Amino acid sequence: TTVEWEAASYDMGGHDTYMHKEIHEQADAVDRVLRGRIDDRFSTVHLGGLNLDAREARQIRRVKILGCGTSYHAGMIGAQMIEELARIPADAEPASEFRYRNAVVDPDTLYVAVSQSGETYDVLAAVQELKRKGARVLGVVNVVGSAIAREADGGVYVHAGPEVCVVSTKCFTNTTVAFALLALHLGRTRDLSVRDGKRIIEGLRRLPEQITEILKQEEEIKALAEEYAAARSMLFIGRVRGYPVAREASLKLKEVSYIHAEAYPASELKHGPLALIEPALPTVAIVPDDDLLEKNRAAMEEIKARSGKILAVAHQDQEKADQTIVVPKNEDELDPILMGIPLQLLAYHTALALGRDIDKPRNLAKSVTVE
Ligand code: AGP
Repeated sequence: TTVEWEAASYDMGGHDTYMHKEIHEQADAVDRVLRGRIDDRFSTVHLGGLNLDAREARQIRRVKILGCGTSYHAGMIGAQMIEELARIPADAEPASEFRYRNAVVDPDTLYVAVSQSGETYDVLAAVQELKRKGARVLGVVNVVGSAIAREADGGVYVHAGPEVCVVSTKCFTNTTVAFALLALHLGRTRDLSVRDGKRIIEGLRRLPEQITEILKQEEEIKALAEEYAAARSMLFIGRVRGYPVAREASLKLKEVSYIHAEAYPASELKHGPLALIEPALPTVAIVPDDDLLEKNRAAMEEIKARSGKILAVAHQDQEKADQTIVVPKNEDELDPILMGIPLQLLAYHTALALGRDIDKPRNLAKSVTVE
């Protein structure tokens, strides 16, 4: 299916910035990426442009996801979803690194190129090199008919609609949903049960409403942002499903507010970054209510013991944290889709408080079409 982008989508529609508008478009955007794709009868999804039949899907031994910046982070979440739902070993790597390291190209690996613009040169160059070596490459791309979409053997369109702000928000969210669809599809050609397929589909259907619920907390998040705008640096931590969310949130804050931010796996804290903890370095902790909850609580305790300030993003109030932004719970595998959304608002309001040029941060371009 093709979704037409109307000229009206480029209108500010009453918002002061495109970033604000695009953050608020996410419930509709997710609705669009799901539309027409869910197959309740077989508890799976139809992805028309994949060009991969069930037999080919079953032959995949590995999945390698390539993208840059925010798209790379969405790919990290995608890799975890593919491992969890389809039980295929999967990982993500910056396309910019991959293309320079003469990687071994393996015929049983499915390569997936991720890009909002579909024009990022590092990603395109990686795709061209892979194709030259006979690999099968799928695209997870937003802009229909873009260079990467044309070069790929097939793929999943992200249908986020036009994204004007240099800082990607709604496309990130939609890309993670597109990966959930791909993971579900691959899972259902392999060992994922009808019951789990149904569970994931029900979770996907809950997303738009849950996004709306998160965005209703904007005033509270704005107040937090005004407090954190004074920070010189911030640490973002997460574990497994929470780690890519922490990375993306840290990139958002850096890009739009120019506050230094660093993301770390919560499990790595004791291997170095704990030395940084002091009252002037706030930590944002991603704390999903999953089997790692206790581990994440222990990490917060370590930070508190060193007088660090903590803002948690969690499914229930965290007593170890100074403040908690509570987000609605979905299925464990789909939680990363939602947990970064309040942190987009945090980055936005921090930048606003600091008077930054939100839609066009200094030194950045919307698509990097050069080496
Ligand atoms: C996103 O906020 C960034 N501006 C940037 O990291 C971006 O995601 C990256 O350049 C990749 O762009 P693409 O998705 O268009 O390929």
